Amino acid sequence: MYKILKAEKLAEKIFLMDVEAPRVAKACQPGEFVIVKMDEKGERIPLTICDFNREKGTVTIVFQIVGASTYRMAELKAGDGFQDFVGPLGQPSEFVKEDLEEVKGRRYLFVAGGVGTAPVYPQVKWMKEHGIAVDVIVGAKNKELLILEDMMREVAGNLYITTDDGSYERKGMVTEVIQDLVENQGNHYDVCVAIGPMIMMKFVCKLTKELNLPTIVSMNPVMVDGTGMCGACRLTVGDEVKFACVDGPEFDGHLVNFDEAMKRQQMYKTEEGRAMLKAVEGDTHHGGCGNCN
Ligand code: NAD
Ligand code: FES
Repeated sequence: MYKILKAEKLAEKIFLMDVEAPRVAKACQPGEFVIVKMDEKGERIPLTICDFNREKGTVTIVFQIVGASTYRMAELKAGDGFQDFVGPLGQPSEFVKEDLEEVKGRRYLFVAGGVGTAPVYPQVKWMKEHGIAVDVIVGAKNKELLILEDMMREVAGNLYITTDDGSYERKGMVTEVIQDLVENQGNHYDVCVAIGPMIMMKFVCKLTKELNLPTIVSMNPVMVDGTGMCGACRLTVGDEVKFACVDGPEFDGHLVNFDEAMKRQQMYKTEEGRAMLKAVEGDTHHGGCGNCN
């Protein structure tokens, strides 16, 4: 049992939990994720890691209610627990593995959209801990749905907040802020890291391609086993097939086929769609087959 030490509602349908998981906390790095399971019959839910404390042995997760499993998960309180808390899974962010002096020589722009603010936070925190000040854009639909503002302010070099409806700080989408910073304010960036809904990452990449700004995105397709076996999280990146759970979740955003990824996400919602994917892509389990456990 992995005990929940803190359970907090951040915004409508968005929750934060601190979970006692010392082995995961000891090993995890920014960019990685975990798969949680509430009980024996529970669905496996992949969640990006928002924060971790190696001394306390805790991992912080943030999730949004999107279906029956996350609805049930939101009812858990401090003192309850998860049966499984598997991780860290996936690959750490590229900069964690690179030469620190090279990373320090680059100017980074982080772009966080909605719940995607949670996986951006540990990356910006890592930068701060290594003496690197980065610019961060956080976009939310409105003031009520903005999350982790104070935590992000503590670690960001410059923080630019924007809301779609203008109810707080700037008005407009994250792409408008990128354009303003680069084109009007003359900021130069070497790398952009964009994490949020797929549609946001698609449009950020469309813009950064025009701006000639290399961009990393974190993909969150449907995942089942999280170990590269079932084929559920298949993506096309350039002319290669990749599996988000083992090859990613981070990829070169200028090479990701977002339209295909969004279409697969939709098809996964129905049994017929999963059968179609199986017919088109071959004999991988595709999550709907019942063989993946
Ligand atoms: P949202 O719809 O509120 O969007 C957040 C921000 O993204 C908006 O405020 C806007 O600034 C920007 N955005 C949205 N559409 C855009 C467009 N067409 N062009 C430019 N910018 C745009 O976000 P949400 O409701 O919090 O997102 C939920 C989704 O995020 C879920 O599908 C969830 O799976 C996904 N998510 C992804 C990750 C990840 O690792 N990539 C992590 C957590 C959640
Ligand atoms: Fe990635 Fe199964 S979840 S291959």
